[in-house]
Amino acid sequence: MEETKKRVFSGIQPTGVFTLGNYSTVRHWPKLQDECDCIYSIVDQHAITVRQTPADLRRQTREMAALLIACGIDPARSILFIQSHVPAHAQLSWVLGCFCPFGDLTRMHQFKEKSAKHPEDINGGLLTYPILMAADILLYQTDEVPVGDDQRQHVELARDIAQRFNGVYGDVFTVPAPRISKTAARVMSLQEPTKKMSKSDANENAVVRMLDEPDVILRKFKRAVTDSEGTIRAATDKPGVTNLMSIYGVCTGKTFGQIEAEFAGQGYGVFKQAVAESVIDALRPVQEEYKRLLADKAYLDGVLKDGAARADAIAQRVLARVYKKVGFLQI
Ligand code: AMP
Ligand code: TRP
Repeated sequence: MEETKKRVFSGIQPTGVFTLGNYSTVRHWPKLQDECDCIYSIVDQHAITVRQTPADLRRQTREMAALLIACGIDPARSILFIQSHVPAHAQLSWVLGCFCPFGDLTRMHQFKEKSAKHPEDINGGLLTYPILMAADILLYQTDEVPVGDDQRQHVELARDIAQRFNGVYGDVFTVPAPRISKTAARVMSLQEPTKKMSKSDANENAVVRMLDEPDVILRKFKRAVTDSEGTIRAATDKPGVTNLMSIYGVCTGKTFGQIEAEFAGQGYGVFKQAVAESVIDALRPVQEEYKRLLADKAYLDGVLKDGAARADAIAQRVLARVYKKVGFLQI
């Protein structure tokens, strides 16, 4: 690995099947592999902040690895590993928690949303989630964190923690920055287009999943919520149509201006059909590669084992430095 390359780190939870929203963000990751030194983690420890069925979590973790490779992450050029395989994440998380004010945690959007959604289980992990995420990022001296816009606040918290720690102990951590692609549109729910499309949405019609068959994708788009105006243009008071336009943009590379021109004078029916077809075409090669990879468990497990060993070697060095700085006796 060359020292001069920028270090990039990102994580994704192995919960539920990947959505078109995740794809809109993750499809930018492979392009970074040439210019940067990339590390991608499947964050199973973050996933248990919400109750999971153990067998499903295990299966989905492997599936997520297959899906990321199918999306273009090349294990020969990037490190791909499972978070719980590298103990330093949990270890650093404890230390960083002692450098994070309580109020910073309670004001996080994701904490507010998730605690409203699971009022019966507002556990400590849900609150301290961003500290573990900061540990993920800071353990690798990360320069940039490619994420969707919904994670900006968490990356900023990691940045604050790094600066606070450095302020006390000198330059220990690289201060990370979010890397939010302008074209990584925040994909919204097809049924409630002011909410983000989420893997855990109970309404299946709201979510396009990476492994949905073409007829299912078409049906979901046909049912997508729009408005009564009947013109295809982007506007804040037209969240449904704007969302469909941004999805079409993700899949075809077209701008809002080009899309408006293309569908001028046409109705929502024609437009929805075109959006669905663009999604089906974009997902097809990824789906085929995913199925091929998932059939080869030995290969996948080999990749993950190798990734964990490489990640661990980097993480151990940084953790040892932190332990020394904070005054843990080393014998
Ligand atoms: P998660 O599903 O929360 O593990 O998110 C994995 C990655 O996908 C993160 O970088 C998120 O920012 C991104 N992401 C999740 N949902 C969406 C969405 N609806 N639109 C765009 N990006 C998303
Ligand atoms: N919190 C992120 C999400 O829900 C996932 C994540 C965990 C992550 N650790 C990370 C993203 C580190 C970037 C860097 O999407």
